[in-house]
Amino acid sequence: MDARQRRRRRWLAIIVLACLVGGGVGTWRLLFGIDGPLYRPRTAGGGFLVAPYVQLGDAPRTGTTESLTILWQAEDHDADWAVEARDAPGGAWRKAGNSTWRRDARLSPGPRRFYQTTIAALAPGAEFAYRVKCNGTPLFEAKARARKGAGQPHRFVAFGDGGANTYEQMAIAYRTALARPDFVLVTGDLVYSKGRLSEYLDKFFPIYNNDLLGASTGAPLLRSTPMLVAPGNHDLLERNIDTYPDALAYFLVWSLPLNGPLATVGALNTPIPQGTEPRRRAFLDLAGPAYPKMANYAFDYGDAHWTVLDTNLYTDWNDPTLRAWLEADLAAAQDAPWRFVAFHQPPFHSSISHGDEQQTRVLADLLEKYRVDIVFSGHIHNYQRSYPLRFAPNRGADGRPIEKLGRVDGRWTLDTTFDGKTRTRPDGVIYLVTGAGGARLYDSHQQGDHSSLQEFTARFVSNTHSLTVVDVDATMLTVRQITADGNEVDRFIVTR
Ligand SMILES: [Fe+2]
Repeated sequence: MDARQRRRRRWLAIIVLACLVGGGVGTWRLLFGIDGPLYRPRTAGGGFLVAPYVQLGDAPRTGTTESLTILWQAEDHDADWAVEARDAPGGAWRKAGNSTWRRDARLSPGPRRFYQTTIAALAPGAEFAYRVKCNGTPLFEAKARARKGAGQPHRFVAFGDGGANTYEQMAIAYRTALARPDFVLVTGDLVYSKGRLSEYLDKFFPIYNNDLLGASTGAPLLRSTPMLVAPGNHDLLERNIDTYPDALAYFLVWSLPLNGPLATVGALNTPIPQGTEPRRRAFLDLAGPAYPKMANYAFDYGDAHWTVLDTNLYTDWNDPTLRAWLEADLAAAQDAPWRFVAFHQPPFHSSISHGDEQQTRVLADLLEKYRVDIVFSGHIHNYQRSYPLRFAPNRGADGRPIEKLGRVDGRWTLDTTFDGKTRTRPDGVIYLVTGAGGARLYDSHQQGDHSSLQEFTARFVSNTHSLTVVDVDATMLTVRQITADGNEVDRFIVTR
């Protein structure tokens, strides 16, 4: 080997070593000057480890007055944090509720405190401003809107499978903000790939709560718009907290209604953390009552009732406890003009990817019996809409649907007369897959290949990232599917 070859080998070794030590892709980008999402500016700043964001909190029902919860993360040292709100520009600031905090002393991603304050006495649907002060100094200010009540038309955006730190995720965040929704419903796989707190810090908050509004940055969305989320497989399936001490962050970063059916640590159908006792204890102490209850919940918004389910593989939706809770929840919502259900794994889709994951079809009878209007799912990274559908699964001698390796076979009846334009009263449940929120698309090659689609699929868009925009009033739903570029690729109306 001559001197030139030795030099070349030495440089190659240095580059490989730098990649390994410095974090792989990031180092390549630095070495070769590649600009991209990994090097966008971080936006927490101002004394925050995570900038303030709004959540519905444990408030499942609409009321004559409303509340919203403000959450943020800051360093683990004593400080006098306070939140103030005002209802009109130029009005007087009033003190919100006392701030409470929980200490996360774990080393990954670093010690911190989770703060939260609830702003109460808000008029339904009213816009208000809030500011967060530390030791008397205002550090952060934003506007938000209280939840709307019955009779108040509203708009929400739904998408899933976003938190992959891609330009497409940023573009979807940007489009979401431009739509000015009253809330955002995420159909799971909130952050890739293991639902860790460190991943939220890297791939979630900097994009959905960016100071800048832009197609290549994200949007200041979370500070103003409540996000309601369904847990996906990438959110709750990694439960080895010895290997990933900051896994299961779902139960730490969200503040959602605590009216789910499962409250016992270690119970069936819950994502049980695995690891040594001190780490388990640290997680459980930090999560408090949110774990495991917050995996399933229900809430009202405007004229709609929502039920959000955890349909990950450790759950069995044939389980009588789970079914009884869902049945009671839907039965109690029969007076609501609209009923929506969200869960990650779709029962009916035409993608070749995940084609054998049909276990959520066992929910179909309850969804039909209690007249659910639309089911929103993700998991499949594209957009699909079914015809209004009724499903009769093949049942075993015990009366339960037969599930074999994820497959649930049976017969469906389709309302193919529903066109969403002139015929707008569906006979059956409409199943939407809206999982094109930012992660790599699935099955682009099926675009336009109608022979590859199941007969229940009415619309299939797999070659572009997209989001669902839904306008709701007491008698009509207008559903539009919008691409990351702002083009409409589906629209349908449902009327009462
Ligand atoms: Fe998924």
